[in-house]
Amino acid sequence: MIRVSILTISDRSSRGEREDLSGPALHDLVISENWEVVRKDIIPDDLKLIQETLATWSDANIQNVILTTGGTGFAPRDITPEATLAIVDRLTPGLVEAMRAASMEITKHAMLSRAVAGIRGKTLIINLPGSPKAAVENLTILIPVIPHAIQLLSGDPKSEDGHNIV
Ligand code: MTE
Repeated sequence: MIRVSILTISDRSSRGEREDLSGPALHDLVISENWEVVRKDIIPDDLKLIQETLATWSDANIQNVILTTGGTGFAPRDITPEATLAIVDRLTPGLVEAMRAASMEITKHAMLSRAVAGIRGKTLIINLPGSPKAAVENLTILIPVIPHAIQLLSGDPKSEDGHNIV
């Protein structure tokens, strides 16, 4: 069972001024894959708080994947990628390259996403855009590769079966 945490990053949703639709939309998609949602929260676009939350959640090691939604655009307070970059050990650029490439077929605005993804310990952290539509579209692109990514991250010796060794 793949365990997922969902972090909504939005000033207005954290103050209760705007309903968080993206967190629940991602929750539904995760559940539909028969994966488990183990933790959810809504926090403001605050660099230190995002860093602390991502680091604390990763280090508690209760999930395989943390999905963030929001704060990846060009607005002055959009700093989710910077917070993520500050706390990951290794980057996973292929995931965000794939999201942007596939999303470009849906909207040219995909090139305005500054999302990053990376690994801290054994947790894969993925930035998704803030709108429910965009968040779901982007996660849908990654769903086929996440199980193998998690298996590799776990260090399971069987995970590299089928990989060519040269
Ligand atoms: N990707 C997909 N698949 N669908 C979308 O509608 N919206 C884009 C982009 N990626 C979009 C998308 C837009 S308009 C922006 S500004 C960026 O994601 C960043 O979104 P955020 O600022 O809400 O995080």
